[in-house]
Amino acid sequence: MFITFEGIEGSGKTTQIRHAVEFLEKKGKKCILTREPGGTITGRKIRSILLDPENNGMDPSTELLLYMADRAEHVNKIINPALSAGKTVLCDRYYDATKAYQGFARGVNMELLDKLHKLILQDLKPDITILLDLDPEIGLSRAWKQINEGKRAGFETRFEKEALGFHGKVRKGYLELARIEAKRFIIVDAAKDENQVKKDIIKALS
Ligand code: TMP
Repeated sequence: MFITFEGIEGSGKTTQIRHAVEFLEKKGKKCILTREPGGTITGRKIRSILLDPENNGMDPSTELLLYMADRAEHVNKIINPALSAGKTVLCDRYYDATKAYQGFARGVNMELLDKLHKLILQDLKPDITILLDLDPEIGLSRAWKQINEGKRAGFETRFEKEALGFHGKVRKGYLELARIEAKRFIIVDAAKDENQVKKDIIKALS
């Protein structure tokens, strides 16, 4: 089983995915918790390029290809071997993030994204995607609070520094993806408090 968590900055994915792992492991599932970008040694190096605010203004094609390179390494070295071994893979962001950020928000051609995904990753799709939906104004203020309090890496802020309008497009993009693939997506209201969001996710996973 392949489960992904998606959402804008500050939507609480990273906290909630840990709660989900805890819940599934209690149920006896063998889980692997991983993330994109940065789920492999090579991927961590790619992540540092992608999220470095010094690279502000990176060409959208360069950005896309770096995310794809990270994913190729991740799927081939971590995700596919774990799925073949019968494990449950929980991944903090995956291909839907590419569609929302590079496709809907940056305007990269969606057909190109889908073609690359089919060619390089044999169109591997999650079984379930939890979308933590949140107003970007709330998400960004939560994200900056965590960064300013030192709870999140301050050198990984290239996307947090994007304008509110960019994050609005990402949110809309995610909601559109969820509408198109309503069977795979579970939309959770991430404006609620942590415990309530956790309960909603566990109910959905049950
Ligand atoms: P994170 O902070 O949730 O780890 O995500 C890193 C950033 O990378 C986040 O701002 C979203 C962005 N991203 C993309 O733009 N495209 C992608 O394909 C992925 C996986 C992430």
